[in-house]
Amino acid sequence: MHIVNTISELRGAVKAWRSAGQSVALVPTMGNLHAGHLALVNEAKKKADRVVVSIFVNPTQFGVGEDFETYPRTEHEDQQKLNAVGADLLFQPAVSEVYAPDAKTTVSVTGLSEWYCGAFRPGHFDGVATVVCKLFNMVQPDTALFGLKDFQQLTVIRTMVRDLNIPVEIVGVETVREASGLAMSSRNGYLTAEEKTVAAKLYQALCAARDAVLAGQSYQEIERTALQFLQESGFTPDYFSVCRASDLTKAGEDDKELVLLTAARLNKTRLIDNVCFSR
Ligand code: PAF
Repeated sequence: MHIVNTISELRGAVKAWRSAGQSVALVPTMGNLHAGHLALVNEAKKKADRVVVSIFVNPTQFGVGEDFETYPRTEHEDQQKLNAVGADLLFQPAVSEVYAPDAKTTVSVTGLSEWYCGAFRPGHFDGVATVVCKLFNMVQPDTALFGLKDFQQLTVIRTMVRDLNIPVEIVGVETVREASGLAMSSRNGYLTAEEKTVAAKLYQALCAARDAVLAGQSYQEIERTALQFLQESGFTPDYFSVCRASDLTKAGEDDKELVLLTAARLNKTRLIDNVCFSR
């Protein structure tokens, strides 16, 4: 695997592939790679001749008091994992390579970015949309792959790509879970063994809520029950919402494609998860 730190080296490698008629997929990450990221790379290999993985802990998507400084950085292990899974190129830029010190442009997907996680992490999705747009401009991939676990992020990116006519196919890849049901996440590393057992209840709440939707219970009642279950299990829930999968507005009785979105804090760790289904 080729490792580059600059945009010009990245562009040189991509240009050579393009000249040879090869297609390119991008897997954007913030590193500390786990099985969920490797599933994205495996899926990317099916979609394109060449796979670029970016590792960039993006400062603009972290709020004041969030974990930007302490976010796990595991460069050596990440490189070994990407080598083993057969990525072609790792793009690992410094912050100064990505952002001009006097950068003035932000990509903002209005509305959607202020709901759910956006209400608790103001500016987060502007940081995500901006860096993903920049990565698309740097790599110019045919396809980019993102985990379904970050369902709101995926919806923000799909909306940005549609609104800005960005010629990149966006692929959502199924969440990888531990045996307990806990969704794989870099932030799971913050959990103690005891907290990890409790954390699995987030997915239990989602599955129970999905069953209740399918059984015809009212959405309001389902949200109330789920929030109560999470509180009683030791979480401080931020939200639990029954939404339309296409645009994340509140689901109505006639909507068929649904997603249940939730975020909850377990002591110092904030966890998010979702379940997407048809009714
Ligand atoms: O999901 C992530 O790891 C990040 O939000 C992303 C998409 C790489 C942008 O920094």
